Amino acid sequence: MTETQRITKAVIPAAGLGTRFLPATKAMPKEMLPVVDKPAIQYVVAEAAKAGLSDVLMITGRSKRALEDHFDRVPSLEKVLADKGDDEKLRLIQEATELGEIHYVRQGDPRGLGHAVLRAKRHVGDDPFAVLLGDDLIDERDELLSEMIRVQQETGGSVIALMEVDPSQVGSYGCADVTPVDGQDYVKVNRLVEKPKPEEAPSNLAVIGRYVLHPSVFEVLERTEPGRGDEVQLTDALQELASSEEIGGGVHAVVFRGRRYDTGDKLSYIQAVISLASERHDIGDRLVPWLKEFVADLDR
Ligand code: G1P
Repeated sequence: MTETQRITKAVIPAAGLGTRFLPATKAMPKEMLPVVDKPAIQYVVAEAAKAGLSDVLMITGRSKRALEDHFDRVPSLEKVLADKGDDEKLRLIQEATELGEIHYVRQGDPRGLGHAVLRAKRHVGDDPFAVLLGDDLIDERDELLSEMIRVQQETGGSVIALMEVDPSQVGSYGCADVTPVDGQDYVKVNRLVEKPKPEEAPSNLAVIGRYVLHPSVFEVLERTEPGRGDEVQLTDALQELASSEEIGGGVHAVVFRGRRYDTGDKLSYIQAVISLASERHDIGDRLVPWLKEFVADLDR
């Protein structure tokens, strides 16, 4: 049952209202919040491009025009920088326009992540495809998506990414019950629960925002009723795929042990900015000593 279609398409849901960052996101998409000096969404598109996914579909909504502008060329700005001979800045602004072919479709009614992914059905067609959630940034030095694509090609089904979290945190994530697969570095997913209560959580393995999905997920999503939060949950559709291999070849998971940064709420966003800035060659060696002093002063 192994399928070997090359995976080239990535879907990036970006229609969320960003209410956790109000008022910053009143007139600006949350995906445009800078992580050091690049909008969060650019890290995600770059990660997709690095894994060979050069066809990106963003699911957007109202007030998301800045996303399209960011990935488009700005000839007047390019000319000013070229005339000044500022090649470094020219390279920086061109980076975003050279990551691949980006398409946009609006979600319309925001009825949950599952509903957003379903909007990609026509664009994706019958091949497996990736979904990347913009709130999760994966360190570019760690492999995840390319691993997941390899596992998808090997198993022919769908592949999710899991990460061990503190049991008290499980209620913020999809949570998985898994069993090892003999001789393999991936696991089989038996059951998934969206944002379980601690006593109902099947494990402390949390679903993180990277998926490589069998296209049969669309027919399942079409009949998936709203679940938690009265929203159509991608996790619920994947639970159905995990429970019956006949529809889409089952669900497997890669357990990620690398560096993940969460930009989804205020505190974790600030932590992500500080972690990434500390490692930047242009400012890290000035930021880290300052940070140490700052923290020492707090303790005094
Ligand atoms: C979504 C998914 C959840 C997953 C999480 C990863 O939730 O529904 O299963 O664990 O992303 O970030 P959200 O964070 O959008 O509420």
